[in-house]
Amino acid sequence: MLDINSIRVQFPILNQKLYKRDLIYLDNGATSQTPQVVVDAIANYYQTINSNVHRGIHTLSQRATIAMEDARVKIQKHLNVRSEKEIIFTKGTTDGINIIAHAMRFILKKGDEVIISALEHHSNIIPWQMACEITGATLKHIPMNNKGELILESLDSILSTNTKIVAVNHVSNTLGTINPIKEIIDKAHEYGAWVLIDGAQSVPHMKIDIQELNPDFFVFSGHKAYGPTGVGILYGKENILNTLHPYQGGGEMIKEVSLEKSSYAETPFRFEAGTPNIEANIALAYAIDFINDIGIDNISKHENDLLDYATEQLIKLGDIEIYGNSENKAGVISFNLKGAHNSDVGSILDKLGIAVRTGQHCTQPIMSFFGIKGTVRITFAIYNTFEEIDIFINAMKRVKTMLK
Ligand code: ALA
Repeated sequence: MLDINSIRVQFPILNQKLYKRDLIYLDNGATSQTPQVVVDAIANYYQTINSNVHRGIHTLSQRATIAMEDARVKIQKHLNVRSEKEIIFTKGTTDGINIIAHAMRFILKKGDEVIISALEHHSNIIPWQMACEITGATLKHIPMNNKGELILESLDSILSTNTKIVAVNHVSNTLGTINPIKEIIDKAHEYGAWVLIDGAQSVPHMKIDIQELNPDFFVFSGHKAYGPTGVGILYGKENILNTLHPYQGGGEMIKEVSLEKSSYAETPFRFEAGTPNIEANIALAYAIDFINDIGIDNISKHENDLLDYATEQLIKLGDIEIYGNSENKAGVISFNLKGAHNSDVGSILDKLGIAVRTGQHCTQPIMSFFGIKGTVRITFAIYNTFEEIDIFINAMKRVKTMLK
């Protein structure tokens, strides 16, 4: 049995009152909280080894370099990636997708096709629209059904030898749908297409085995996985990465430079121009340790139990429309109180000490699909409790009497 209270005490931020009530944090899909070990790792970096990496003969620089490269290896092992050279530190999921979509501008041409899905976050739509606009390639998408599941059968008719890359999320940030990415990856590979998986909403919540899944690229953010903001990971197959045009030029990403022409380093440094977010990269490994100390399967189970309980209680409450009823669903519930605006519901919940996200969740196409302006969204992390769900449901009862 997990002792959630012993986990909660590791998050000082949770131990505070908002408007005289205990804070209940249900916006983990946007940003999860950071345990003290991660906060300490950041402070410790500045207190002991702050200096630039890969650039110094002096001891502090060497220590910082070792700490950051150790972090890379820890993340590599956690995801079961073949080589640490395939782990690139980025600013986050959006950055990782843009690095690949930008490289595709040098590869795509008219007649080529890029496939995304109806469930994507704007960060996995717009970079591909830009790449297609510049190259003349065509953007297609896998449609979804009313439950918020991708209609996978249609992928067979969309895929062709013109398809150069398929970019889909593992878990929808808005509906919680867990997409059948293994099937999508295997199908795309039959046509010789690369596959990029947006793992922003899956890495904190479920086991990821890159060698088993076999995507060509996989991206996620630190700040949704108990780590700091401004850091993320781009995984890519080494042999592919070394052929791709770098996104940014600058220090660290070069082999040789002359005033006329330069050659680029191999991965991962090829994609890490400039001084990195060193302390955050190091601290991300502490977040991964935090996850592994609890066990990712224990995290998944607890969050699934919270999902089932909260869904049941919301339905019992009545006058609630839940969006996204996929068979395979992660800890995300998007809903509306019938007749009420999502931001009114969210504002009242906030005054009752409960943090939720409202609006379109950077997924306007999903909102258009359901013909709505937005939703209220609650998303779970390991530190959320059943008592918090009960308080949230009671708060929703109050919201209902106020707004109905
Ligand atoms: N992508 C984040 C979310 O879904 C910000 O809330």
